[in-house]
Amino acid sequence: MEENDLRSLLEKLTVEEKARLLTGADFWTLHPMPKIGLRRLVLSDGPNGVRGTTWDERDTSLLLPVASGLAATWDRAEVRRAGELFGDEAVRRGVHVVLAPTINLHRSPFGGRHFENFSEDPLLTGVIGAEIVAGIQSRGVAATPKHYVGNESETERLTYNAVIDEATLRDCYLAPFRRIVDEAQPWAMMAAYNSVNGHTMTEHSALVNDVLKGEWGFDGVLVSDWFATRSCAGAANGGLDLAMPGPKSPWADGALAKAVQDGEVEESVLDDKVLRLLRLADRVGALGEGGVEQKAVEAPPEQARASIRELAARGFVLLRNENSLLPLDQEVTKVAVIGENATFPAVQGGGSSHVSPPHVVTPLDGIRRALPNAEVHYQRGVRHQRLLDPIPRELVLDPQGDGSGLRVEYLGDEGQVLDTELRGTERLTWQLGAMPEGTRKLRMSGRLTAEVGEHVFGVNGTGNFRVEVSGREVLSADVKSSSEVDDPLGDMLAPPEQRFNVVLVESDLDEAGRVRLAVEFRPVKVDADLICVGFGHRPERWDDATELEAALRAARDCDVAVVVVGTNDEVETEGRDRNSLDLPGPQNELVAKVIAANPNTVVVVNAGGPVLMPWAADAPAVLWTWFGGQEYGDALADVLLGTAEPGGRLPTTLPAALADVPVPLPGVQPVDGELSYEEGPLIGYRAYAARGVTPGFSFGHGLGYTTWSYDGATFDGDAVTVKLRNTGDRAGREVVQVYTADPLRLVGFAVAEAEPGAEVEVTVEVEPGAQDVRVGPSSGDLRLDAGR
Ligand code: BGC
Repeated sequence: MEENDLRSLLEKLTVEEKARLLTGADFWTLHPMPKIGLRRLVLSDGPNGVRGTTWDERDTSLLLPVASGLAATWDRAEVRRAGELFGDEAVRRGVHVVLAPTINLHRSPFGGRHFENFSEDPLLTGVIGAEIVAGIQSRGVAATPKHYVGNESETERLTYNAVIDEATLRDCYLAPFRRIVDEAQPWAMMAAYNSVNGHTMTEHSALVNDVLKGEWGFDGVLVSDWFATRSCAGAANGGLDLAMPGPKSPWADGALAKAVQDGEVEESVLDDKVLRLLRLADRVGALGEGGVEQKAVEAPPEQARASIRELAARGFVLLRNENSLLPLDQEVTKVAVIGENATFPAVQGGGSSHVSPPHVVTPLDGIRRALPNAEVHYQRGVRHQRLLDPIPRELVLDPQGDGSGLRVEYLGDEGQVLDTELRGTERLTWQLGAMPEGTRKLRMSGRLTAEVGEHVFGVNGTGNFRVEVSGREVLSADVKSSSEVDDPLGDMLAPPEQRFNVVLVESDLDEAGRVRLAVEFRPVKVDADLICVGFGHRPERWDDATELEAALRAARDCDVAVVVVGTNDEVETEGRDRNSLDLPGPQNELVAKVIAANPNTVVVVNAGGPVLMPWAADAPAVLWTWFGGQEYGDALADVLLGTAEPGGRLPTTLPAALADVPVPLPGVQPVDGELSYEEGPLIGYRAYAARGVTPGFSFGHGLGYTTWSYDGATFDGDAVTVKLRNTGDRAGREVVQVYTADPLRLVGFAVAEAEPGAEVEVTVEVEPGAQDVRVGPSSGDLRLDAGR
């Protein structure tokens, strides 16, 4: 629609009607306005997939590799395709506005949402972010880069004040947002929870009205982060356009209309917001005659699985590969697969980006599938998850039918059943409004296949639990939250777990070998925005020392050992920063011992942000695989066996030692509410270079399965032309990187591909004004001087 047409629609609305459009109708949708042809707009998280409007394990969405893994491709075309996949998935899920990508920077490796952000470098972040936005929007769906701006920490995330000097703000933290606005014109953007230099971002007129909308010409909708709107006139005049979620907000129930009527907010200010909203609705096809109501369709296209698998492999970074241990010989006969993450991989991080994937291919599944003729021996080795394992769904049968899963009954005041449904056995989540009206309590029951003997069970969530096993009460307890944190995600962040031992005897089991499990749960707050409850289990016979010994035996007995270690979605989550860069639990000990037990050990790291790897120099091969999405295990097998090349390069520096880390732990913790970005622009590789410290693995580093010679580079002021040759014996892909020498800054990059022996020439466009540039395969290996 032309701007004039949008304006004439605007003119048909009263002040009350206009103001009403600017707060959500509920958690994820906006008010329709049939009289001007405006349909209901649907918003949804987030950067790993498109969850839709429910938070329910039965309502599945494609799960892509997380953002740090996408950025690790350093490949514009590849991430454009990822954006298109998000866009297609949004259309399939009936979503008009995707709350992604997250483009805050990896300021400190302790940042809890590292996995959800692309990189420590503003250029790489901006380029990758712009491609994702363009990909999403090519499908007629709005992207929402977030969180504008200064949202690099999770500690006190709702309230801290980031103190950032003007030059650093412009050069580092605003730069990727600006690039995305210039190159991809996002139709929406999200204002952060935090303040910057004294003003909360939902009221920051200087950074919103002057910079974002003024200087950069952003013509989309600035939506608040969820519950981040703090005032009525302040937020309206500060440039915020949409307060989410609804129906309650400081603008709702006539408050914004009244502020206009009282003269606290000019009507023209209100009009500009509504115009932006109508423009957005028009762009996503939710306005006027032409558009159709977005309708969810059943299944994603079959091709999506292959694309996600390829994307994951493209982001895996081969850090070390002594004696070309990888790729493994496809004829390998005995493989030991070791580690908790091989069967419980972290395929996404914690928090609002979470989606329920249709399935997860674990590393063990992937390796077994790829090596049907080999003996594959699995050993868990050590445990590192805080919570007990979820009970596999196939082990639990519906007591009221034949399906598998837990039967959930919603009970009212008198204990009457208000509704019932069959759910999964993973942690269950309800958004406000998802339970039937009047629910006070839940009863969850199932028939669990189990053996006679000792077991440890656990429930997690906050509230009162009463658990029966085959009619015997085995637990009655009030479980309280240990965290004091008041966060919209509540218990999702770190639910308290209550464990209890149960000795199962013959008479507990029916003829089919099943026990009756019944859990009554009265949530501490039935009207919480999110309620979560989960169950866990482990057989009592687990013993760390014995399991570790079994793992080492397997390593010794096999030709190759693949040890999969990593973090999980509790260690790396929204709502909390990390308190350590160590692999959780005794995993370092496990890795060191497996390396000692088998000279052909491949260490696979499954983490979204940096971890320390004290064994790295002894490891024959180290493959960094991020949180790899739903096809993780197949992608891993592809790379281990050489069907695919590990395409990734580090988008963030990996430290050698804790003492070397720029912006170490206290750097993410506000002091008296203030978070000082006192390091200025010196984050990531810039800080290592400035201090002359060599990291564990440099920004930009990553090996492929072939080798390259860099044969020459010429610089014409705007672009560097680089000649290189594939000197190995297989086709390969190289990310050619260009940096200014002093200070060290990435100014351009491009992907080269060549057959064995072939020479290629790539042209790398560089940032305007770049001088004295160097070229190489990583920030730590700049082999060519391209001159001034
Ligand atoms: C997160 C956002 C997210 C929103 C809606 C917030 O807590 O910071 O990234 O889009 O919730 O789930």
